[in-house]
Amino acid sequence: MTTHRLGVGVLGLGYWGPNLAKNVATSKECRLTGLCDRDAARLEHVAAEYPGVRQTRDVDDLLRDPAVEAVAIATPVDSHYGLARTCLEAGRHVLIEKPMTRSAAEAESLIELAERKGLTLMVDHTFNYTGAVTKLKEIMATGSLGDILYWDSVRVNLGLFQHDVNVVWDLAPHDLSIMDYVLDVKPTSVQATGVAHYSDGLENIAYITLRFTGGTIAHFHVNWLAPVKIRTTLIGGTKKMIVFDDMETVEKLKVYDKGVNVVKEREGIYYTLVQYRMGDMFAPHIQNVEALSREVAHFARVVRGEDRPISGGDAGLRVVRILEAAERSMREGGKEIRL
Ligand SMILES: NC(=O)c1ccc[n+]([C@@H]2O[C@H](COP(=O)([O-])OP(=O)(O)OC[C@H]3O[C@@H](n4cnc5c(N)ncnc54)[C@H](O)[C@@H]3O)[C@@H](O)[C@H]2O)c1
Repeated sequence: MTTHRLGVGVLGLGYWGPNLAKNVATSKECRLTGLCDRDAARLEHVAAEYPGVRQTRDVDDLLRDPAVEAVAIATPVDSHYGLARTCLEAGRHVLIEKPMTRSAAEAESLIELAERKGLTLMVDHTFNYTGAVTKLKEIMATGSLGDILYWDSVRVNLGLFQHDVNVVWDLAPHDLSIMDYVLDVKPTSVQATGVAHYSDGLENIAYITLRFTGGTIAHFHVNWLAPVKIRTTLIGGTKKMIVFDDMETVEKLKVYDKGVNVVKEREGIYYTLVQYRMGDMFAPHIQNVEALSREVAHFARVVRGEDRPISGGDAGLRVVRILEAAERSMREGGKEIRL
């Protein structure tokens, strides 16, 4: 029996859209049935690689073609809501780039619309389809780290300064979506500070702190103005700790059997003795998979009802809620915002 391959149109062919187009075109689960960008030069440049695939500068024209059963949206963030709404209203499944929308209210409205129409709405949280994050989730799910004490991530480089969003909306969705996928607990508050060193008012460096019930704390450092590229996350548990270094080519994850044992000494006097536990380190094998290829195939299976979404609209909304609160906190001088 042959499986129906989902007809996908890619909307927005700037920096990221061509990656989606390539992975849709090479997927066994999908077919590339349309390409759309309002910029004629971008459209022509990308469409030249896919002869025979319908190309258009107009979304409504794209949606007139019944072969476009789903749309992958890779346009700037401010346009996500309007374009996703148009596609859903036209009865198309939607895979939308991160961050899902500019506000939680917009994300909620898209989720409601997709549910009402019986359509699939997913968000491209690319990292959650990588071999490293898949393995990280697997390890965390065993509970072998013990209670999670902290999550500490750094994502910095001499980055592409964006013109429409600050560094929080650009880079933090990656780390927030990984954390959302891997940690069972959800944050209760957000505090953020950041600075726009240049005149456009968009912060190019930011520090975000999340708090959770039970004492877990998470910190995210995002920066477009670093001389080197760092992509490191430390996860500390009471039993074990993990270092996820995405700049490593092979051993991206290292699990350390290190920690402290705390003992209260001397009855009545109470002073705390910290004993260090220095155990082994192990680097698990990580499958080498192309994240976007896994993701588009998964999207097609979700549409067919064969899989539950790894990054559905609900995950997109949780990330946007944190981004929105972080932005508010930055505007209010680092005030703690309850979620
Ligand atoms: N998942 C990832 O790792 C990842 C990486 C980079 C970017 N992104 C996301 O992808 C999205 C796009 O980012 P980018 O860097 O590719 O942007 P970009 O500016 O390079 O490209 C956007 C394209 O969309 C087109 N466009 C805009 N509005 C349109 C409309 N109404 N109709 C048709 N075409 C339209 C523009 O002409 C442009 O070619 C953003 O949401 C960004 O956050 C995700």
